[in-house]
Amino acid sequence: MAFIEWSDTYSVGIRSIDNEHRRLVGLVNKLHDASLQGQGSATAPVVLNELASYTVSHFAHEERLFDQHGYPDTPNHKRAHSDLVKQVQDLQEKAKAGNFTVGMEVMNFLKNWLVQHIQGTDFKYRDFLISKGVI
Ligand code: FEO
Repeated sequence: MAFIEWSDTYSVGIRSIDNEHRRLVGLVNKLHDASLQGQGSATAPVVLNELASYTVSHFAHEERLFDQHGYPDTPNHKRAHSDLVKQVQDLQEKAKAGNFTVGMEVMNFLKNWLVQHIQGTDFKYRDFLISKGVI
């Protein structure tokens, strides 16, 4: 069973965004699998780089949609993105330093980092972007 099981409760109802969120969930699960196999410290920097890079790309996609359609809560959402990027970059730095263990504390942090943003912040744009025809 995956660490985070994708379910409709994570869906914003926009296929392109859901696909990107699924990939982020997949990267968090990949890190969890590696830690279970005892490869956490060797694999963590690689997966965290992938996670950070894809996070930046996904956030940029959402922000382009906000700008394109005049989403009213854009400043708050962009601030939340910026904070989340800093948090994952902090983990990257720790991983680069070499004495980094992917334990349940880190995994639960990443799970909350992702799920709370999707369900708490992304859900706020759902009806607005759907009403603009974003699919
Ligand atoms: Fe899906 Fe605002 O990140």
